Amino acid sequence: MKLRTSALLAGAFAFALAGAAAAQTVRVGLINTYSGPMASNGDQIEKAINLFMKSGQCKLPPGVKIEIIKRDDTGINPETAKRLAQELIVRERVQILTGVVWTPNALAIAPLATEAKVPFVIMNAGTAMITTMSPYIARTSFTLWQSSYPLGKWASNKFKTAYVAVSDFGPGHDAQEAFTKSFTEGGGKILGTVRMPPPTSDFAPFLQRVKDAKPEALFVFVPAGKSATALMKGFGDLGLGQAGIKLIGPGDIVTDEELPNMGDVPLGVISMFHYSAAGDRPANKMFVASYQKEYGPKAWPNFISVGAWDGMQAICDVVAAQNGKVDPEKTMLLLRGWKNPNSPRGPIEIDPRTRDVVQNEYIRETRKVDGVVKNVELETFPMVKDPWKEFAQK
Ligand code: PHB
Repeated sequence: MKLRTSALLAGAFAFALAGAAAAQTVRVGLINTYSGPMASNGDQIEKAINLFMKSGQCKLPPGVKIEIIKRDDTGINPETAKRLAQELIVRERVQILTGVVWTPNALAIAPLATEAKVPFVIMNAGTAMITTMSPYIARTSFTLWQSSYPLGKWASNKFKTAYVAVSDFGPGHDAQEAFTKSFTEGGGKILGTVRMPPPTSDFAPFLQRVKDAKPEALFVFVPAGKSATALMKGFGDLGLGQAGIKLIGPGDIVTDEELPNMGDVPLGVISMFHYSAAGDRPANKMFVASYQKEYGPKAWPNFISVGAWDGMQAICDVVAAQNGKVDPEKTMLLLRGWKNPNSPRGPIEIDPRTRDVVQNEYIRETRKVDGVVKNVELETFPMVKDPWKEFAQK
């Protein structure tokens, strides 16, 4: 009788131990912009992650869970981002970092990821060199070179002259350099370049200079969100379109969620980008439909949502592959070469050499389709690697 009881107890004990081993919660630190004038960009990341987790796309082994611990960097604030990353690593013991709309914030976090060996999945920040700043970074978003370099080449076949106006920080500098390189290599002439402070909403002084220079095309990068709408307003108010100047740029300037706030000004804008909410791939139609079912018929996901959607997929996949026991080196090995053949944007993969995303770029024209303004994809440039890294390697 005694023996039976202890055998039972031993059995119960073993069962409890097995349960404890199976219940594995992976802590993921999300640094995002939840407040301040740029919060609409962070809202895209927030909505996409919540939808992804809710929709059962995150397939984890039994007992494995992901807990997301969120922090607000309030905008372009590298000091704040660094402090938050520190806090998430040291106090919250996160095993993976993610999020980050802004390049300066990503650059401030990079050395901490290296020091603490915490894999850092970047869902937006798009300056090319970011991924070279830590071996623990992988990116599911884009680089500005991916869009602006092929756009310059394309534009050099259409226009003889262009003016370049960019926000004066990392992604703007990249957009300027990439466009200028391919446009001039293709025989185009740059009539002038202006760098504008990133949190500006009054573009008139810069656009007046452009109008006076009379270029055939104006290439612009400003951050997506409210800045893009302000840019479009300035372009319309000063009558640059009527003056015969064609507006072109990476898709940030015609970001899908702001199109309803831009009136007719963006009609005819030519942009190069990896994502349009109007893309007619079945995976995208399903994505947009589920987004609007969750957040309302006027909620449009943009490229930032898609970067977060795929970033969350990558995180779930590497957590699942390790059965919830996240090892930094193993995680990076799994992220190198990670693929999603069926992203809303088309097929994507992480280049194992650079840990940066490889994806289609689409040339688009902003058009009114059945009364709705959309970025209509016209032509596909398949599986573009970050040109900046391709040049650096040569
Ligand atoms: C960036 O900071 O890298 C960034 C921000 C907004 C964009 C694109 C890039 O639209």
